[in-house]
Parts: sequence; structure tokens; C-alpha cells
Amino acid sequence: MKLVILYGGVRKKNTYKLVETLKEELLACGPVEFSEIRAHDLPLPYCNSCYSCFFEGESDCPHAEILKPVLEEIIGSDGVIMASPVYSLQISAALKNIIDHLSFVVHRPVMANKKGVAISSTAGAGHKKATSYMKEILHLWGMDKVYSLPVRVAAHELEIGKGLQKKIKRIAGRLYDDIAGRKMYNPSLKNLFYFSIWKAVAEMGKEEGTVDYIYWRDRGWLKEDYFHPIGFPKNKIGRLVYKMTGFGMRKKG
Ligand SMILES: Cc1cc2nc3c(=O)[nH]c(=O)nc-3n(C[C@H](O)[C@H](O)[C@H](O)COP(=O)(O)O)c2cc1C
Repeated sequence: MKLVILYGGVRKKNTYKLVETLKEELLACGPVEFSEIRAHDLPLPYCNSCYSCFFEGESDCPHAEILKPVLEEIIGSDGVIMASPVYSLQISAALKNIIDHLSFVVHRPVMANKKGVAISSTAGAGHKKATSYMKEILHLWGMDKVYSLPVRVAAHELEIGKGLQKKIKRIAGRLYDDIAGRKMYNPSLKNLFYFSIWKAVAEMGKEEGTVDYIYWRDRGWLKEDYFHPIGFPKNKIGRLVYKMTGFGMRKKG
């Protein structure tokens, strides 16, 4: 089992302690290989909004050489642990910069059916907002299950008490079992909407042969209701959303 840590902090303190504790608890479940990408160590300029990744493909990004190893690590993993301290009520700018560069992954979800954890620590506020943001991004990357660990530290330095340790142990156990057992989760309505909308967007590019269309076609998803089989009524809801999105886009031209 291979997990990537996408780390948005500078210090190896509170947030890192949470990540390290999760790693220890995961290793107590069985063998896990970790790799770590520290956002602040990447010499990544800001996204310059050229749209190349969306329309030509990610290898046309002017920063592709820096992003390639990051993307390869993510794609080659069974899941992502995304972690950031709260800076001004949100994740750090360095982590956001990576997420911005990977915006095309929302169109071409490279993490379909994979699992994730969103971790954030704060002194007082913003931890829930930050984890909820990371969770949504990981779902948009295709994940069907993302656990959250928002932690308010209050004191300057985090002490992992019994309750927090238990919570981390529970997340580790579930994550490990999900991946080891290849568990597939029934999508939430929100995730089903995401799938159906992006499927309709990909389908719209059929004539032109867009990168999104080719990506979805090659994975067989254009014929599916979700990344893995789902039953009634979600299959019907997904088809309806797909049809309405396609109709809306054609009407708009
Ligand atoms: C630049 C900066 C901005 C911060 N903004 C907030 C904030 O908006 N709300 C808050 O409660 N804590 C804020 N904090 C405190 C950190 O979120 C908190 O101490 C966190 O646990 C630090 O994590 P770390 O030890 O992994 O760096 C901020 C800290 C820094 C350095």
C-alpha cells in the first residue's frame, strides 16, 4: 500500500505531529510505504492561467517539469494524505498553489475510487473550513472516500491526548481496511453530481476530440453512472444530472 503526503506546512510541528501519528497508526495496521511532497520545497511559480492543461494536456503546462514528479507520485499511490496548518482561516498558499496547478484533475480525475485524508491544525479557527476544502478537492480528484481530521490546538504546541489518539487510530484503521479490502463507497449525491457533470463536459468534446473526452472514453466512464457500479436510485439521478448538464451546455452553445 502506497500513500502520498501532500504537506502544506513549513514547520514540522502541530500539523506534522498529526501526520506522523497517523503514519504510526497506519503502520500498526500493516505495511505502508509513504512518500512526502512538501509544498514549500517545490520551486513552483504561480499558475499563469494559460489554460494549456485544460485544453492541450498537462504536459503543456509551462511548469510541467516541476509538476510531473508530483503528479506521478499521486497517480501511483493508493491514496493521499493532504495536510496544512491554517493560515488566515484557510490552507497555506503553497499547498493551494499545487492544487491550482492540478485544477485539470477535476476534469480528468486521476484518483478515481481512491481514498484520502484531509488534516488541518489551527490555533483557534478555520480548521473545519480548511479540512472541508481539502476534502472537497480530493473528492473532485475522483476519490470516493475522504476522512477529515480538523484539530484546534489552543495551546502553542499540540499534545496528542487520549481522545485525539483514538480518533487518529480509528481513521488509520478505516483507511487501511478500505485500501487493503479495495472497498468502493456508494457516492454521496454531491460526488454523483460531480461525476455526472464532468462526464457531460467530457462528452461535449467528442467531435473535437478534446483531452477530456479522450480521457473519459479510454476509461469507459462515458458509458457508466459512476467510477464503479452503483444501483437504483443513484444511477437514475446521475443520468438525469448528466442529461440536464448536456442539455444546458448545448443550449448555451
Ligand atoms: C501565517 C499564519 C497564519 C495563521 N492564521 C491563523 C488563523 O487564521 N486562525 C488561527 O486560529 N490560527 C492561525 N494561525 C496559527 C496556526 O494555524 C496554528 O498554530 C497551527 O497549529 C500551526 O501549525 P504548524 O505547527 O503545523 O505550523 C496562523 C499561523 C501562521 C503562521
